[in-house]
Amino acid sequence: MPDTAGASPRFRDKPVSFVRRSGRMSDGQERAWEDLSATFVLAVERDAAATSIRPGTEIDPVAEFGRRAPLVVEIGSGQGHAIVHAASSLPGTDFIAVEVFRAGLARTMLDADRAGVRNLRLVEANAPEVLQHLLPEASVDEIWIFFPDPWHKKKHTKRRLVAPEFPRVAARALRDGGVLRLATDWEDYALQMRDVMAEAGEFAPDFDGDWAERFDGRIMTAFERKGIAKGRDIRDLAYRRAARDA
Ligand SMILES: C[S@@+](CC[C@H](N)C(=O)[O-])C[C@H]1O[C@@H](n2cnc3c(N)ncnc32)[C@H](O)[C@@H]1O
Repeated sequence: MPDTAGASPRFRDKPVSFVRRSGRMSDGQERAWEDLSATFVLAVERDAAATSIRPGTEIDPVAEFGRRAPLVVEIGSGQGHAIVHAASSLPGTDFIAVEVFRAGLARTMLDADRAGVRNLRLVEANAPEVLQHLLPEASVDEIWIFFPDPWHKKKHTKRRLVAPEFPRVAARALRDGGVLRLATDWEDYALQMRDVMAEAGEFAPDFDGDWAERFDGRIMTAFERKGIAKGRDIRDLAYRRAARDA
């Protein structure tokens, strides 16, 4: 019998936290993709799905950025407003934006290029696979997830990113003492995040009381503005990765 194990890549067996939009880009975004992706977008190897990362294809962030510096990864960076702002204000830190929305990545590159930002790379892929297969273990100082898709209908909540299996992949990528920062305007997702993180032995809360203070480095985006306009409370959470056993 032929040995087919590992012969062809497998599709995912779990739902992902996004639905890929048709992604028609404007002419400006198409041009940005052509002109700027070689500078900003990391070339990654895929498994079966177009946004997957093939297991065993880790990058070396020090080689990618040409230096050793603190590394922040933003998941679901959208149009890139938060990460471009952070990268231009903190030139001594390196940033990776992870997003599946190609037009958002194009916009991020245009803004980054205009701002002269060089400490930013983009990955077009499903974030849990980036944390699990692309980034080396303990290589990341902070992971940011601001206004993840809420999937608020009951039949869709299983698509939420911050779910019981998420802390393990985040903990793998974070260094000891690294921080996971979350923000959402959906109360029941905020409660779910807090419950999931309370169960995660690799993390401890980095705040007192019910919720964290608003994170200073988080700028206002359209999603937050929309939540506020609808009268929703914005909730921040922050968790510190515990030390690995020696
Ligand atoms: C509601 S938007 C928020 C965007 C941004 N953080 C902000 O505050 O403006 C959520 C983003 O997460 C992206 N996203 C959702 N699941 C993802 C995943 N598994 N991997 C990468 N990006 C994801 C979506 O494409 C979308 O752009």
